[in-house]
Amino acid sequence: MKKLIASDLYYIGVCDRRIELFENVYPVPDGVTYNSYLLADDRPVVFDTADAAFTEEFLLNLEDALSGRGPEYLVISHMEPDHSASVKALADKYPAMKIVVNARSKAFLEGFFPDLKNETIVVKDGDELDTGSRILKFIFAPMVHWPEVMFTYDAAGKTLFTADAFGSFGSSNGIVCDADGFSALIPEYRRYYTNIVGKYGVQVSAVLKKVSPLAIERICPLHGAVLNEAEIKVMAALYADWAGYVPEQRSAVIAYASVYGNTKRAAEYLAGRLSEKGVPDVKVFDVSKTHFSYIVAECFRKSHIVLASVTYNGGIFTNMETLVREIAHHGITGRKFALIENGSWAAQSARLIRGILEETKGAEFIGEPVSFRSSPKPETFASLDALADELAADIINGN
Ligand SMILES: Cc1cc2nc3c(=O)[nH]c(=O)nc-3n(C[C@H](O)[C@H](O)[C@H](O)COP(=O)(O)O)c2cc1C
Ligand SMILES: [Fe+2]
Ligand SMILES: [Fe+2]
Repeated sequence: MKKLIASDLYYIGVCDRRIELFENVYPVPDGVTYNSYLLADDRPVVFDTADAAFTEEFLLNLEDALSGRGPEYLVISHMEPDHSASVKALADKYPAMKIVVNARSKAFLEGFFPDLKNETIVVKDGDELDTGSRILKFIFAPMVHWPEVMFTYDAAGKTLFTADAFGSFGSSNGIVCDADGFSALIPEYRRYYTNIVGKYGVQVSAVLKKVSPLAIERICPLHGAVLNEAEIKVMAALYADWAGYVPEQRSAVIAYASVYGNTKRAAEYLAGRLSEKGVPDVKVFDVSKTHFSYIVAECFRKSHIVLASVTYNGGIFTNMETLVREIAHHGITGRKFALIENGSWAAQSARLIRGILEETKGAEFIGEPVSFRSSPKPETFASLDALADELAADIINGN
């Protein structure tokens, strides 16, 4: 799709409505976009390209927006192939186009496209590029979420190109968001950020600080919608929480792994008690039904995380083990955990889960694990009552 989004600035990205798994991991029931932009200044600039499945559609969008001209520059924010796979085809079509990279992205460019002939311009943090009526400034954002990432700022247009930051899963629908539509998308912004970028909170905080003095009317990310000023305000507040691993809500997520329903009963019982005690918005997930990316997003959102798992072939139930490792891997810090375990032979899932979670910074554990054999007994429910008391008190009155 081509769309004029501001003076001389065109959206020329593509929408992938058929994809099942983004990065071959994350379900995207509403698809995903690979955004690209053309700044049609005296010397036209293309910002990033598109996934390999959409090279032709992307090149047609660009040609349409260029109105017979050729691009002078391609700016590469980072070399992840969902945005760079079409670089070679673009470069071959426009051999006079110069490719603007930094030293690290140049190395990756050569890794992916050793036969590329076009001239490259290697820029440093803070360097500028004169495109005629605009001066573009490059702002390095290392590890947000690849090593070589750089943002670009167009001061005259008050536009910040932010690579994958401020992106989302979901289809484009014309790249407009009214206020209602935008708030409905926030869960997918959260799932995108937490799973794709969430590990790099320190680096995200650093770049947010770097761009905070800039006048910004519009953010152009590489996935999802172009953000206007009102939306930027909302997202900046959320990003500050997410990057700092600050829970948005004092509440609990309860994730359970159960083969035959007994562990599920214990988890559901605890959810009922927490809700009775006034804990708002408790969320319960079956780890075998809900993809871990949705649960990881909820773990970023909430202050307390309860994990209930059967013991399985001497270990943690497989889908629960994936979730626990993802929680640790995504660097979620400062959360309070409570554990429930079940085993018919010899329960040990809580000990194993705790071992993984102890690697996460600031992990605290509320109470002792509630451990039971095969099915919950009256004493199991009594232990769950006690755990609910402790959890609810900590959620509601704690800090
Ligand atoms: C394939 C399989 C392997 C299991 N391995 C163990 C085990 O190593 N240790 C153990 O204590 N229980 C083991 N169990 C029993 C479960 O931990 C659990 O007690 C039982 O499935 C009942 O809980 P549920 O109704 O929540 O599934 C196993 C169960 C299954 C189906
Ligand atoms: Fe990326
Ligand atoms: Fe991306």
